[in-house]
Amino acid sequence: MKYRWYWFYFLLISLNGAYGQVANPVFIPDTISGNSIQLRMHMDSVAWLPGKKTRTLAYNQYNYMGPTLRLRKGQTVSLQVVNEIGDTTNVHWHGLHVASENDGGPHTMVMPGMDWNPQFTVLDKASNYWYHPHFHGKTAEQAMKGAIGMLQITDSVESGLAIPKLYGIDDFPIVVQTAQLDSNNQFLPKGMEDSLLFINGTRGNYGNTAFLNVPAQIVRLRLLNGAGERTFNIGMTNNRPFNVIASDGGFLSAPLTVTRLRMSPGERYQILVDASTLQGQSIQLMSYASELPSGVQGGPTMPMPPGNPPMDSPINGLDFNLLQLNVVLPTANPVTSVPATLTEVHVIPETEAAATRIIRFTAENQMVMDGPFFFNDSTFNMDRIDYRIPVNSAEIWELRNQTMVAHPFHVHLVQFNILERDGNPAPLVERGRKDVVMVESQETVRLIARFETFTDTVMPYMFHCHILMHEDDGMMGQFLVVPNATTSMKHLAHSQQIFEVFPNPVGESLTLNLALASTDEMPDYQIFNSVGQIAEHKTLGKSKSISVDHFPPGIYQIRVIADGKIHTSNFIKN
Ligand code: C2O
Ligand code: CU
Ligand code: CU
Repeated sequence: MKYRWYWFYFLLISLNGAYGQVANPVFIPDTISGNSIQLRMHMDSVAWLPGKKTRTLAYNQYNYMGPTLRLRKGQTVSLQVVNEIGDTTNVHWHGLHVASENDGGPHTMVMPGMDWNPQFTVLDKASNYWYHPHFHGKTAEQAMKGAIGMLQITDSVESGLAIPKLYGIDDFPIVVQTAQLDSNNQFLPKGMEDSLLFINGTRGNYGNTAFLNVPAQIVRLRLLNGAGERTFNIGMTNNRPFNVIASDGGFLSAPLTVTRLRMSPGERYQILVDASTLQGQSIQLMSYASELPSGVQGGPTMPMPPGNPPMDSPINGLDFNLLQLNVVLPTANPVTSVPATLTEVHVIPETEAAATRIIRFTAENQMVMDGPFFFNDSTFNMDRIDYRIPVNSAEIWELRNQTMVAHPFHVHLVQFNILERDGNPAPLVERGRKDVVMVESQETVRLIARFETFTDTVMPYMFHCHILMHEDDGMMGQFLVVPNATTSMKHLAHSQQIFEVFPNPVGESLTLNLALASTDEMPDYQIFNSVGQIAEHKTLGKSKSISVDHFPPGIYQIRVIADGKIHTSNFIKN
């Protein structure tokens, strides 16, 4: 066994000799497209550090992360998520405009050995989205272990733009993550000392930089902050300027030249880097974390109130390398200029807002730095619907951060426009379509969104902090998009009445709290499991009590059709 280590160190020393540092080529996952896509989530392991391999989660042929899904606006897609991880999970299509039953929120539970088959039409604009597990309480663990991937959508607007579009050649997915491993090299998903850096799962480190060969021309980087908690302040050495062309959910109206780009967890930006005159040289992509304001995780360490242990990662507040771009030969037909304009960005006028909701970010003790954090003083409750939003209405959400730390706020279903930060117009880079917005400590951000296309009176969408430990700790809420009074009769005929079951969560049997006009003849009931299959179809007894002892743990929906209506309720079986 020993000679293996010998060999490892020999390799380490020779690489050091050749490059002056240990350098790893960045892994670029293959793309996967078509109308029918299978994602097999499985357990795996990676040898990132000497010693034990790190246990990971991954999709398909990979041992960390998954393939990049490439879909076209307007196509239909049938996704089969196969759970081979030995634990309950699910997959959320972050940023996509889909029905709540296809969204992969915490109410969708895919049990071990089961699969889930959402099917939908792609309605989104060309941009860079992503997928990750959203199983409540385990999102941080499962996402940090690697069960994430990029999801790219193309459309006719993008086809018409003269920008780099060759995946892996001049157009690169760049997922930036940090993690903390324990002394056995295993993930500490909620570890605050996350100083190990990954680019697409390739280990880099400040000092040991991952590298990417890029052609000497204009290249496109699709950046995703996939970290659990850390914010990056993207820049390049010598303050080299670059162009931002897209935010979370689409292109900006025109490229914006910047030298810094702050990215909090969940955010995506696409940038163009001009490498045309740099063949044979390299560009350092950096995080200038020393410039982050206080309260932003990854920024300079905050002084802790007396009695609290210091929260310190060795790289907090440091400027460090994320990725080294080595500039090589240009390609045959290089893109050599940045277009002057990109697309039209529509901002919903404030006058169209039907409601303003105030969402305060709170904590039990305003001084805590590590949570738990809440919205409007309440923790997440899967059985409480926080907002019912009539379909097609536009709403302003006013986010008031009353805590000591910054939180990246994310809403499912919609892309929103940021109206204001503390009364000032949104910065230019945030004038495009967004689904995550960082709200700094004591800051107020106002955003506007329209909630359209899908209604469901049972299955909600989520809004939450995208710092995964905050989300798992309850910094999450849920909303329904419901049919409104003017919705057609056709919809009303399908509208569902909600009733209660008790107890909920249920152990052996449950009782329906359902008053029916037709008591003489007991109606049938159906119980559906989380993947929409009928688990039971029987006639309801007079007692309205149902034994569910024989069901595996999970989330179920019970439907009773009586009095010309569909009565539904969700319950959790322990
Ligand atoms: Cu990327 Cu609800 O999450
Ligand atoms: Cu999402
Ligand atoms: Cu948070």
